[in-house]
Amino acid sequence: MKGLQRLAINYRWDDSLTSVFTFLEKPMQKVEEILREAVQSTVREMTAMAMHLLSAGGKRLRPALTLLSAKLAGEINHRALLFAAAIELMHTATLIHDDVIDKADLRRGRATVHSLWGNEAAVMCGDFLYATAFNMLAKDGDVEVIRTMALASSQVCEGEVLELQLAFNPEITEEQCVEIARLKTAELMAAACKVGAMASGANGELISAMESFGRNLGIAFQIVDDVLDMEGSVEEIGKPVGSDLLEGKVTLPVRLTLDALPEEKRAIWKQRIAKREVTSQDAADLAKFAKENGILEQARARAKKFAEKALEQLTKVANEANSLEAINVLKRLAHFSVHRRF
Ligand code: IPE
Ligand code: IPE
Ligand code: MG
Ligand code: MG
Repeated sequence: MKGLQRLAINYRWDDSLTSVFTFLEKPMQKVEEILREAVQSTVREMTAMAMHLLSAGGKRLRPALTLLSAKLAGEINHRALLFAAAIELMHTATLIHDDVIDKADLRRGRATVHSLWGNEAAVMCGDFLYATAFNMLAKDGDVEVIRTMALASSQVCEGEVLELQLAFNPEITEEQCVEIARLKTAELMAAACKVGAMASGANGELISAMESFGRNLGIAFQIVDDVLDMEGSVEEIGKPVGSDLLEGKVTLPVRLTLDALPEEKRAIWKQRIAKREVTSQDAADLAKFAKENGILEQARARAKKFAEKALEQLTKVANEANSLEAINVLKRLAHFSVHRRF
């Protein structure tokens, strides 16, 4: 409960997410123990860096997806706990690396690992966490699980590099924005759900339905992450706001905003982005335009479409589900991914 109390202080929980974690409280406690144990190292600074981020809270959404998928397909056994912890370790690694790439100062309301320990140590800590996760999975020994997680890790890297490749490109298409979201965020959530169902020995159909649920929820989640960068507050999300465009990232809500500008203004904006001349004031002005013209609702509506696709998967498997409550909680998570403020 200690971990959960800490989370409740760091983040404003809405009712739906509180109930998710009430449902998962006991298994999640065990996941936290596995996480703490996994990052113990004879090199003191390594543990310090990993614990700095792990102990700062976080929504623990990915391990929740693993546990809920396992519950939906059967019972939450030891393998599900292990897979849930491995996924959170991988997520922690991507956050540390992502903050190096984005030169971000703040994460989960704390100074980022690289800003405290330097880029060199931060990159190594991320690598250590990836390797630790795979070591845990290797001990379990299921090659299909290892393959699923390895593929998801590759896709995170591909998504991050695709985003860099398309940075400062004002001609990026909506499809490309979604592809970045799928690769860098959604595939890890798809894997989280898939291995959860696998831990319970689910059949192929159920496994792929859960995988698709996670993928669609993940795309919705990333689109809303991009929306929050334009409308959120640092207190709510615990990380910097308004920085995507400054980093040259033309995210889906930025794309929609550019498309909604009158033609002349749009041309000026495109040039500004391509020439890397966007200032903080510009980014704030664009966000203001987006808010005043309903563009952020439009982006959330795009996210909702993906969340609806995720929900369709749950309808498909409802008959063979072991736990109605797991289904209901997963439904709430799909809803949360669209309407969240943190
Ligand atoms: C942050 O993920 C990175 C994205 C994929 C947007 P979360 O918003 O799940 O981060 P934590 O784990 O709650 O801090
Ligand atoms: C999220 O990228 C995906 C990964 C962490 C790989 P972002 O750069 O959009 O995430 P935040 O906003 O820093 O959490
Ligand atoms: Mg980032
Ligand atoms: Mg990033």
